[in-house]
Amino acid sequence: MKKLRIGLIGYGFMGRAHSNAYRKVGNFFDFEHECVLQAACARDAAKAKDFARRWGYQSVETDWRKLIARDDIDLVDICVPNNLHAEIAIAAAKAGKMILCEKPLSMNTPEGRKMVAAVERAKVPNMVWYNYRRVPAVTLAKQLIDEGRLGKIFHYRAKFLQDWTISADLPQGGAGLWRLDVKAAGSGVTGDLLAHCIDTALWLNGGIEKVNAMTETFIKQRKHTLTGKVEKVGIDDACAFLARFNNGSLATFESTRYARGHKALYTFEINGEHASIFWDLHDLHRLQYFDHRDQSLVRGWRSIHVSDGDQPYMNHWWVPGLQIGYEHSFVHQVADFIQGLETGKPAGPTFRDALETQQVCDAVLKSAKSQRWEKVARAK
Ligand SMILES: NC(=O)c1ccc[n+]([C@@H]2O[C@H](COP(=O)([O-])OP(=O)(O)OC[C@H]3O[C@@H](n4cnc5c(N)ncnc54)[C@H](O)[C@@H]3O)[C@@H](O)[C@H]2O)c1
Repeated sequence: MKKLRIGLIGYGFMGRAHSNAYRKVGNFFDFEHECVLQAACARDAAKAKDFARRWGYQSVETDWRKLIARDDIDLVDICVPNNLHAEIAIAAAKAGKMILCEKPLSMNTPEGRKMVAAVERAKVPNMVWYNYRRVPAVTLAKQLIDEGRLGKIFHYRAKFLQDWTISADLPQGGAGLWRLDVKAAGSGVTGDLLAHCIDTALWLNGGIEKVNAMTETFIKQRKHTLTGKVEKVGIDDACAFLARFNNGSLATFESTRYARGHKALYTFEINGEHASIFWDLHDLHRLQYFDHRDQSLVRGWRSIHVSDGDQPYMNHWWVPGLQIGYEHSFVHQVADFIQGLETGKPAGPTFRDALETQQVCDAVLKSAKSQRWEKVARAK
């Protein structure tokens, strides 16, 4: 077996999700490569050691620069807040490391372009963790669209709703709350949640030509965890936008952290001339499908339980009828990355693919300010 020696930076939510994927992938997929949990990096040595022991990492670093300088690391996995992605990725590319970077790619498009240039100059394999593409029901949606079953697409509708920031007492910044601090996050729900919806949409329905957006920050000031001072809130708490795709379809996207009762309601619906599909993260193993070409006697929405061996990824898991969950999308992402290494056909989204999502996010934020339709810049 060839070893793929992983250096993971950041041991929070995603650090755990990725570590779990590296540990499982070799049990369920056959490759020439074997993932080796070589080093975990975090600033607090005691916590990093505890994380390394729990997940089976062989060593610990407290400075990401030292991790990148090591000869015994092949792949750097970036699981830290958004404002650190670019600096780490560019340094890792210069050091010749493969890179898996969390989403969104960057804080903004100019930063993203530098990251793309760095990985392409260094010719290092790279990928961004837009993991929802690899939920089997979402991958099946892609297959149905690519087979032409929907025909011409008229509408794309997506939303991602949460409710965890409604309290004015919640501070911003620091561990766990960096998403509320614009300096660490870059934007609010646009880069955090809508970026997922946009990545899926670009993958399923092609490029977006222009957008018209509105954003709102409902709670204008919050105490900052690190300074202790009450400071202006710079992120968008809610964002809704209209879009026109290059294929002529119309779209609506909405995201908020102020939708009482919703924790992670990511849904999309696509309406085509022959058929429609609908997916809901809360019921992630099902794909709803309506085909107008069915005989009228039995025509109706089908709820496809995506668990059969001929449905995407499912032949690697249990037996038909038994479903898998959220963490498996990360296992699939690692599997596709390794397959890309072994076949020479890199799996997406690469940094270049993820730059397109960044450009849509930037156009959305620009439109929210200008209150006009804004064209999406082309990837360069
Ligand atoms: N793909 C997804 O569905 C998904 C889900 C959640 C988060 N994310 C992305 O993953 C990234 C991390 O988010 P998270 O939810 O895991 O955050 P988190 O707050 O749970 O973890 C962040 C980690 O980064 C560490 N960190 C911060 N600065 C560091 C530094 N200088 N050196 C080393 N470690 C440092 C923190 O100690 C913490 O362990 C973000 O970019 C986020 O947008 C993606």
